[in-house]
Amino acid sequence: MRNDIRTKKVEEVSKKIIFSQEEINSRVKQVGQQITKDFADKEKDGIVVVSILKGAAIFMTDLIMNINLNVEIDFMCVSSYNESTKSSGKCVFEKDLTSDVEGKHIIIAEDVIDSGLTLYEVINHLKNSGAASVTVCALLHKHIAQKDIDVDYICFDCPSDYIVGYGLDYAHLFRNVPYIFALKEEYYND
Ligand code: PRP
Repeated sequence: MRNDIRTKKVEEVSKKIIFSQEEINSRVKQVGQQITKDFADKEKDGIVVVSILKGAAIFMTDLIMNINLNVEIDFMCVSSYNESTKSSGKCVFEKDLTSDVEGKHIIIAEDVIDSGLTLYEVINHLKNSGAASVTVCALLHKHIAQKDIDVDYICFDCPSDYIVGYGLDYAHLFRNVPYIFALKEEYYND
């Protein structure tokens, strides 16, 4: 990692904007409305939207505000990347749910599906939690997953660029940028 990236302006490290704030807002709203329709009859059992920290925290926040149903929220922290740009291939569960999800419907809000390893592990874990159902809602899908995962809602197909912003990071940076942009190669090809 280039240490000087910490003090660079987003405009300096950005190759191009991939999804603007407006595009993201509009698509997340659409998906939230769809979930509202699809889960209306499940509200009585309980719906828990689970965000996989840290990347999906921003997406989940926007998504739940576009779901017009009573939902609970909870968080898991699973990590497969360290400060490198490649998955370590190993998932570390750093934080589990704290809610009782027995008989409730879980909607996992994930920011990006790359190898699919994280979701594969999380889905298996949650299917053993006593939940009535486990549904996946992804902001971005690269469609290169090595694992066979059912993804129920996808906001955007993800380009092959190294993308950051709106929760996605490079070395823990740029999560707070309200749009998604491609990082210049010179910053991650090290
Ligand atoms: C990223 C991302 C997904 C996962 C996707 O998380 O947020 O959870 O990788 O990759 P995969 O499909 O290859 O498993 P990361 O481990 O970087 O942690 P973070 O959410 O804290 O950034």
